Amino acid sequence: MNVAVDFKNVDIVFGPDTADALAMVDRGATRAEILEQTGNVLGCAGANLTIHEGEISVLMGLSGSGKSTLLRAVNRLNIVSRGQVLVKDGEKMVNVVSCDAATLRRLRQNQVAMVFQQFGLLPWRTVEENVGLGLELAGVPDAERKARVDKQLKLVNLDPWAKKYAHELSGGMQQRVGLARAFATEAPILLMDEPFSALDPLIRTKLQDELLQLQKTLKKTIIFVSHDLEEALKIGSHITIMEGGRIVQTGAPEDIVLRPANDYVRDFIANVNPLSVLTAWNVMRDRRDLESAGRGWTWLDRRKTTRFKVDKDGLVAAAERDGKPVEWVSCTDVEQHPEDGTQVYWANPGTPLKTVMLAMHRSQTAPVALFDEQSRFVGAIGVRDVLSAVLRR
Ligand SMILES: Nc1ncnc2c1ncn2[C@@H]1O[C@H](COP(=O)(O)OP(=O)(O)OP(=O)(O)O)[C@@H](O)[C@H]1O
Ligand SMILES: [Mg+2]
Repeated sequence: MNVAVDFKNVDIVFGPDTADALAMVDRGATRAEILEQTGNVLGCAGANLTIHEGEISVLMGLSGSGKSTLLRAVNRLNIVSRGQVLVKDGEKMVNVVSCDAATLRRLRQNQVAMVFQQFGLLPWRTVEENVGLGLELAGVPDAERKARVDKQLKLVNLDPWAKKYAHELSGGMQQRVGLARAFATEAPILLMDEPFSALDPLIRTKLQDELLQLQKTLKKTIIFVSHDLEEALKIGSHITIMEGGRIVQTGAPEDIVLRPANDYVRDFIANVNPLSVLTAWNVMRDRRDLESAGRGWTWLDRRKTTRFKVDKDGLVAAAERDGKPVEWVSCTDVEQHPEDGTQVYWANPGTPLKTVMLAMHRSQTAPVALFDEQSRFVGAIGVRDVLSAVLRR
């Protein structure tokens, strides 16, 4: 996968004379210590983060943790004191920290678009004029601009509103216009600083869905700031958690939920429902950890009701439940196959844990076998595996 944005040892200190502050950063000083001794504000320190093309990378953390500071370094709205911020520019990577003014202008026009918390629609312009603003500023010819604006408005179902003035729209609709405008610039990298945080929860959820839907077809690289973990878990392919200007953890949503790096992260996830992020893969016991049932057979479950054999390609050659041959039933089809003592349930590693649990519930807690896309056996899930994941034990 190609890298779109790469932060390398990025320090950002706000203040007139940063040398002393940077020396303190090297000694691991906190923001409060640096402020007290040098009068400089530490924006972020030692930030290393690689963002791949097509990813939605979420920066998370409490207010003042440095999320916006790091985000704004991508298009040099903030001056980086030390380190590199590499941004993909066609086939090469450009260091935004040191590139010349013409390169920076070109990057801002063609590569990196910014979406602010308040989308900043111009009330005296119509919806289509607002969506086309970025294109207009970039000098895109009228006909092409109109076509691109039409396309974006259709994507967010706002085409009937094209001729309305921005101030005639509700807050949520304005936000959708802003979203359309950001996507219309065709910049491959989008920076979004808490774009939905001012909206009520229902509209917010809808816009998150809309963003994910747009992303499916447009596949941008999005760096998204949020202080809401539910939002981060929902939309992020990766989440980076910041505390006091420093990155404390980066990982996939389930990494954060299953393996929080410290108490700060643990506090964030304390109220998260793990079922909203976990998949079968996250809780399964690997096939190599299952107990042998002798002569090439393996027990699927700890209670030893069900055993199976695989051939040399990893495909199941035989399976028995209570000594009798079984019928395989997908976890998604449990409704159509009420439990009668002859079935074994299966799922794919990517199946949501919730689906697996529903099947277990319907089948009086039968174990579930997991198969990959090539039908090879990869592992098993029993009730205890689910409980320990959900309880994070
Ligand atoms: N332009 C600036 N000049 C001086 N200090 C700044 C500037 N921008 C940010 N800071 C400081 O840097 C620190 C990190 O701020 P930042 O805006 O990145 O936090 P944040 O995580 O985005 O918080 P929030 O959730 O409140 O938006 C804060 O202490 C802030 O006061
Ligand atoms: Mg901020």
